[in-house]
Amino acid sequence: MPGLYQGRNFVSIHDYTVEDMQRIFDLCKILKLEEQTNQRKPILKDKNLGMIFEKSSTRTRVSFEIGMNQMGGKALFLSSKDIQLGRGETIADTAKVLSRYLDGLMARVFSHDTILQLAENATCPVINGLSDFLHPCQAVADFFTMYEKRGFLKGLHLTYIGDSNNVSNSLMMAAAKTGVNITISSPSGYTPNEKIMKWWKEDAPLTGASLNIVPNPVKAVEKADFIYTDVWASMGQEEETEKRRKIFSAYQVNDALLDKAPDEALVLHCLPAHRGDEITDSIMDGPKAAVFDEAENRLHAQKAIMALLMS
Ligand code: CP
Ligand code: NVA
Repeated sequence: MPGLYQGRNFVSIHDYTVEDMQRIFDLCKILKLEEQTNQRKPILKDKNLGMIFEKSSTRTRVSFEIGMNQMGGKALFLSSKDIQLGRGETIADTAKVLSRYLDGLMARVFSHDTILQLAENATCPVINGLSDFLHPCQAVADFFTMYEKRGFLKGLHLTYIGDSNNVSNSLMMAAAKTGVNITISSPSGYTPNEKIMKWWKEDAPLTGASLNIVPNPVKAVEKADFIYTDVWASMGQEEETEKRRKIFSAYQVNDALLDKAPDEALVLHCLPAHRGDEITDSIMDGPKAAVFDEAENRLHAQKAIMALLMS
């Protein structure tokens, strides 16, 4: 299976079919098991991944780098401040040059358009490590975590509470491709945008997935198998933090909200969490949080993506 999507980009889950997504999860499962049973294979021996970061990262940076190491390759951290991109070299020229050295390029950027330009101009696969519009690697890890916890995906109910952002957009796409019913609970003005709604409508009929926009968080969690939240102000929106704290105050994932959800509901968060804002310590540190298993799965998910694209 490694090499199956050789040369393709991983910019958006929307670009991948229902079957493609299933194969990513299948390989994720295999690679995780191989890691746990000391049967690591050098699938990406001597391959090199470049990692452009315009924004901070803990999980993405470390899991991509360690993932490459575990598969026999190497990863190169490229802060946009330190490469010529930060001094005005064009995105297109950067992509063309880096493609001459690298076997894959992962990028975390402010504008989604930067990822699209990298993908258009690079001759090696480009992987979206988060843009202002999407965070597809995160959603692969999240859905793999849901699959591990429950044993299946189709028909599950995922409720996302909070800001409709890059993370929830990719969750919507993954839900549409896997038959997971998603409920989005956001304050007015922070609901999913037209583009992601259009994509969801194109993909959902393939699996029969449903989407509900339910502004009241208490109602939104009634049937939830998984409750997901993310920060109220994403990277690049720091100056809106105080304003958003007021707007989102009723959208905190806390014990009172969990009381309204089914007993077996588990909580997910892409992390980093702003404890005391979108999620409480009691939930983060409690028995219902699956957030650290979810963070670990970034590693396995991205190894699967890299192995499929780069070997
Ligand atoms: N969830 C996530 O992408 O974390 P980092 O910002 O630490 O990479
Ligand atoms: N929505 C968050 C996700 C961080 C991983 C952000 O973009 O900052």
